[in-house]
Amino acid sequence: MTTSTKKGCVIVTGASRGIGAAIALRLARAGYVVGCLSRSGDTPQIEGTSDADRAQWFSAKCDVSRPEQLKEAFLDIQTRCQQPIVGLVNNAGIHSQGRVESISEAEFKSVMDVNAYSVLAASQVAYPLLLENKGGLIVNIGSFFDKLGIKQHLTYCATKAAVAAMTRCMAVEWASKGIRVLNVAPGYIQTDFNREMLEKGPLAEFLAKRIPAGVPGNAQDVGQLVTSLFVLNSPYMTGETIYIDGGHGMLQ
Ligand SMILES: NC(=O)c1ccc[n+]([C@@H]2O[C@H](COP(=O)([O-])OP(=O)(O)OC[C@H]3O[C@@H](n4cnc5c(N)ncnc54)[C@H](OP(=O)(O)O)[C@@H]3O)[C@@H](O)[C@H]2O)c1
Repeated sequence: MTTSTKKGCVIVTGASRGIGAAIALRLARAGYVVGCLSRSGDTPQIEGTSDADRAQWFSAKCDVSRPEQLKEAFLDIQTRCQQPIVGLVNNAGIHSQGRVESISEAEFKSVMDVNAYSVLAASQVAYPLLLENKGGLIVNIGSFFDKLGIKQHLTYCATKAAVAAMTRCMAVEWASKGIRVLNVAPGYIQTDFNREMLEKGPLAEFLAKRIPAGVPGNAQDVGQLVTSLFVLNSPYMTGETIYIDGGHGMLQ
């Protein structure tokens, strides 16, 4: 149920499906208007939505690795929704896999652009808008791979370690402006990103034994956590990485 339409607008990147769509749904149900960015510009594709949910969503096409497209999309959404921008969720991301010795310069740089540079670029676009609002919250979506050594995942791990580092640096520079920055770092979450790998085969069997919670998480778990950070609005909490991985990352 939608509780209010006056809480302001939160921009969510990569909101057309997966974790971003679940974040958009939970935020809408908490009363936020949601600016939903993705390359396709699709509204969040997620089961069980109502007209009331969809009325809270304003979608726009945008490649998050292109600052000029980010600027246009933020402006477009602000104009259409007629609400102040109170937050940003930097969720858009892509996967990458390959042995260290075979990673190309082009592959490394393009994944770094989408997963890490976009966090800086979108946050820079949000900054003056959040200042106008006298503060706000930026939540970055990292990964528990930020602290692990995963075979054939150098590029992806490096991008997510960068997201955690950028979270801390933005948090300390912008704390005095009332802008808080947090990093939500999921473990294995079943989405299009990894559905086949997590449903069957050697990884699925390995994870069933390895994840203390016994199963991968789902996108709603992350949507719920991110939305709770907006609703909680805890003024002294900033710069932290919050892991949501069923205990996987701390298992010895
Ligand atoms: N699933 C997991 O197990 C897991 C675990 C840890 C962290 N994460 C992180 O969680 C985030 C979301 O993952 P997911 O599993 O939900 O992925 P997903 O199902 O593949 O969805 C990715 C979303 O990002 C958008 N996107 C991709 N590239 C983009 C670009 N250049 N510009 C704008 N939008 C772009 C996609 O829409 P378009 O294709 O329309 O652009 C889509 O909405 C990622 O940052 C990922 O690294 C996922």
